[in-house]
Amino acid sequence: MAIQISPSILSADFARLADEAAAVSGAADWLHVDVMDNHFVPNLTLGLPVVESLLRSVPVPMDCHLMIEDPDRWAPAYAEAGAGSVTVHAEAARSPVRTLREIRGQGARAGLALNPATALDSYADLLPEVDMLLMMTVEPGFGGQRFLDLVLPKIRRARELAGARGGSVWLQVDGGITEETVERAAEAGADVFVAGSAVYTADDPAAAVRALRTQAEK
Ligand code: DX5
Ligand code: ZN
Repeated sequence: MAIQISPSILSADFARLADEAAAVSGAADWLHVDVMDNHFVPNLTLGLPVVESLLRSVPVPMDCHLMIEDPDRWAPAYAEAGAGSVTVHAEAARSPVRTLREIRGQGARAGLALNPATALDSYADLLPEVDMLLMMTVEPGFGGQRFLDLVLPKIRRARELAGARGGSVWLQVDGGITEETVERAAEAGADVFVAGSAVYTADDPAAAVRALRTQAEK
């Protein structure tokens, strides 16, 4: 599978979300939407009503990253609303198999996210239920943090388990992705790259997406 870039609107201007999404629509593969509930992570962003509105006005497929407690209750609703991909955290899901199946049952790609300190091998048996494994390369909750190199061995291990690029499980990284770090993550085996501040603090967000893709494809 080709490299994919998913700009995170966490670093966009929340008063102009549709315009900010449109700014990357020609360059990005996905739009990454961070849903935070101030419980699973110490930050609060937006929820289902805002996602439903964005889905009506944004032409890019939506990649919803749920950083919430009780994702089992909420994840299927994001898929039903029309998100192309819905990701739940392994640390929060109580019934991950059922939830991942419900996401797929609504026609979306099912994602499982692991915090930096969460071991991959505990979840290896779930891979047949997963369309995308999200490996957090910062502690979740905030944009603009530094990429954690300590996650690189886990990305390599995930690439071994998922098989060569082109397999059915996509490997996403999220946190601290810049033109400098994207190469290390790609070399380790990641193929879907989330970038918030690197895209939305740039003067030209679409150009920033293209630059990340060029670096990742090196
Ligand atoms: C953080 C979010 C990220 C965030 C990344 O918990 O999951 O998607 O937007 O921001 P940057 O790219 O600035 O690290
Ligand atoms: Zn995210």
